[in-house]
Amino acid sequence: MPSKSYYITTPIYYVNDKPHIGHAYTTLACDLLARFKRLDGYDVMFLTGTDEHGQKVEKAAQTAGIDPKAFCDQVSQNFRDLAKSLNVSNTDFIRTTEPRHIKSVQALWDKLLAAGDIYLGHYEGWYAVRDEAFYQEDELTAGPDGSKLAPSGAPVEWVKEPSYFFKLSAWGERLLKFYDENPGFILPNSRRNEVISFVKGGLHDLSVSRTTFKWGVPVPNDPAHIMYVWLDALTNYMTAAGYPDTDSASYKRYWPADLHMVGKDILRFHAVYWPAFLMAAGLQPPKRVFAHGWWTNEGQKISKSLGNVIDPLALIEEFGLDQTRYFLMREVPFGNDGDFRRDGLIQRINSELANGFGNLAQRTLSFCAKNADASVPAPGPLADIDEALLAQADSLSDTMRKAMDEQALHVALQSWYDLVDAANKYIDVAAPWTLRKTDPARMNTVLWALLETIRQLAILAQPAMPDSAARMLDQLGVSEAARSFAHLGEAGRLRAGTPLPTPQGVFPRYQDAAKA
Ligand code: MSP
Repeated sequence: MPSKSYYITTPIYYVNDKPHIGHAYTTLACDLLARFKRLDGYDVMFLTGTDEHGQKVEKAAQTAGIDPKAFCDQVSQNFRDLAKSLNVSNTDFIRTTEPRHIKSVQALWDKLLAAGDIYLGHYEGWYAVRDEAFYQEDELTAGPDGSKLAPSGAPVEWVKEPSYFFKLSAWGERLLKFYDENPGFILPNSRRNEVISFVKGGLHDLSVSRTTFKWGVPVPNDPAHIMYVWLDALTNYMTAAGYPDTDSASYKRYWPADLHMVGKDILRFHAVYWPAFLMAAGLQPPKRVFAHGWWTNEGQKISKSLGNVIDPLALIEEFGLDQTRYFLMREVPFGNDGDFRRDGLIQRINSELANGFGNLAQRTLSFCAKNADASVPAPGPLADIDEALLAQADSLSDTMRKAMDEQALHVALQSWYDLVDAANKYIDVAAPWTLRKTDPARMNTVLWALLETIRQLAILAQPAMPDSAARMLDQLGVSEAARSFAHLGEAGRLRAGTPLPTPQGVFPRYQDAAKA
């Protein structure tokens, strides 16, 4: 097992919803990072799963007319299926109704109680079931007919019940110190600043148990209470690492997590409540929480009532899996909001994948098939333009690694595409087709430099487009064992004489049936 480990998580998804582009987006971003780290020599633990307790899920089960556990068993599967359809490489899938998790949250509760950070009281205030969140009066806005709405637009209701509280108000200063000492804990920086000003504004104690419904983890020694679903849900990240067995090999290896990837709407829970709970329990907070932005659809907010929800399976069906993965990760500066446009997707597929990378490989490989005995030609001395192309190829992994370590996924893919572009310009300038008659030795050098560049592009394309990149590597005769980043650059140079299989196009052009 590699000595370096990396632990990355998606949020766990509420089972009441049908999987949509938001779920696919968060999960794909994690998959890109997980695959990148794995190819870069890390032992990666990659967790996703489902958030199954709370009032929202209980209500959905009631509406469906089934018992909540049976309901969760059914719908949790949709999220496993989504991960599979997206070719996601998660190493575990957690459900908050599993015994391992219930044991873990109850153990955390006991720690918080023993630390003196939990006390019994009475909650009276606003609650939004859709967000599973408590709100202060001054956070609300006026809704229709005198109703009130949470900042997310969710309706709120007045709740009055006995409740345990977590002494969050006592953690403000310690959280601010923690953010200060760990500047990379919250990314992007704009979000970090929002969290810091929220905490500076003063924190209220947090209600962490409910008594007016039943669907949750019972509070140890007081089963009239069930735990607040966010305390329950956040703990999933530790459960999967082996908590409460803090001596277990997996806990020691993977906790604290390297990265919790979340959407901007759930940053407060991850960047304020979660580290406060962990510090109170004497446990280490995760190393980073990254909050990505939200998609709109052709300029409009996505909502069920507008009927414009984007089904990731329909995208895969129409455009192809790797094409969809590439587009979602490439289109928008990661961390910003983005607008999903169908013509934007088609444009990326056709210009960057079909005409860009696909055509580069297809031109080079079919030329080799015809003019270089269907094998890797032997290079002669390198000219300046060959050296320049290879230097760009050999340094690409460093550029991408740096971007990936800051979750700048779009920057990583931009630098990848810049090399595609440079290689396409090179082929036009070096013009192997004219060298065929005039200077076959030089032609061989040019083809070799191109094949070598395509090899590195294909290796580095694996995180975003695993299947297509693998097919490309097959065509270059690169063995399975030589596809990790350890084989980039000089270490894995293509050897002259390696046979090249008959080339086949990997990135078809998208023909818009709707417009044809
Ligand atoms: N159950 C909680 C998370 C608990 S983690 C301890 C939850 N679940 S969710 O099913 O609502 O999560 C949805 C995820 O999808 C969030 O990360 C959210 O930001 C993301 N998205 C939902 N709609 C989205 C878009 N329109 N665009 C991008 N992502 C969005 O929250």
